[in-house]
Amino acid sequence: MKLNKRLLTLSEMVNEHYDLVWDCCCDHGLLGFKILADGVIKELNFVDLVPDITNKLKRKLQQHGHHLPKDAQWQVLCQDVSEIALAKSASQLTNDARQLVIISGIGGDLIIEILNKLTPNCSGLHVDFLLCPVQHTYKLRKRLRELQFKSKDERLVLENNRGYELMLISHSAGQAMSLTGSDMMWKIILWPQVILTN
Ligand SMILES: C[S@@+](CC[C@H](N)C(=O)[O-])C[C@H]1O[C@@H](n2cnc3c(N)ncnc32)[C@H](O)[C@@H]1O
Repeated sequence: MKLNKRLLTLSEMVNEHYDLVWDCCCDHGLLGFKILADGVIKELNFVDLVPDITNKLKRKLQQHGHHLPKDAQWQVLCQDVSEIALAKSASQLTNDARQLVIISGIGGDLIIEILNKLTPNCSGLHVDFLLCPVQHTYKLRKRLRELQFKSKDERLVLENNRGYELMLISHSAGQAMSLTGSDMMWKIILWPQVILTN
């Protein structure tokens, strides 16, 4: 299983405990598979809107699921991300459970629409979001500020002549959302330039 740099970096950003992770807009499911394979996360839901995609993914998971840790649990859901039932999703989850919703590989405008619907359902729950928009990042950051999200981690990935901003956000912890990207994100890209100019 070969992940591109963007998906690999997203998987590395899942480095704290979550009881349940949602790989939303999962398509091929590579990101969720890698996160489960890393062994830190024990339960993950794959979500995509397109039945052909989710059926294909179910077949792939049946074929290759034995490569995952024995205690890994997953389900594949065919539905609109904005309608996922965060509180009720996993049978044994309580309201104290820590959940991570990953939305990657779609436009910032669509992520805004999804968050507008999902965020009110997060009240009283512990939900972080890991976002990777393919465009409209500034507009998304503006909306994230309005929704009172804070930034826990940010990375910039340059791949195929394109820059991707990866953002781990939360209501409970982190620093103020920057509209143009936090130091956490830019310091990684600036270091090589500093070395070159010195
Ligand atoms: C380009 S793929 C992204 C794959 C992977 N997440 C990535 O970052 O490479 C976008 C996927 O989002 C799905 N999608 C778009 N809008 C959606 C929605 N509202 N709910 C669920 N899936 C959606 C599409 O069916 C498609 O499979």
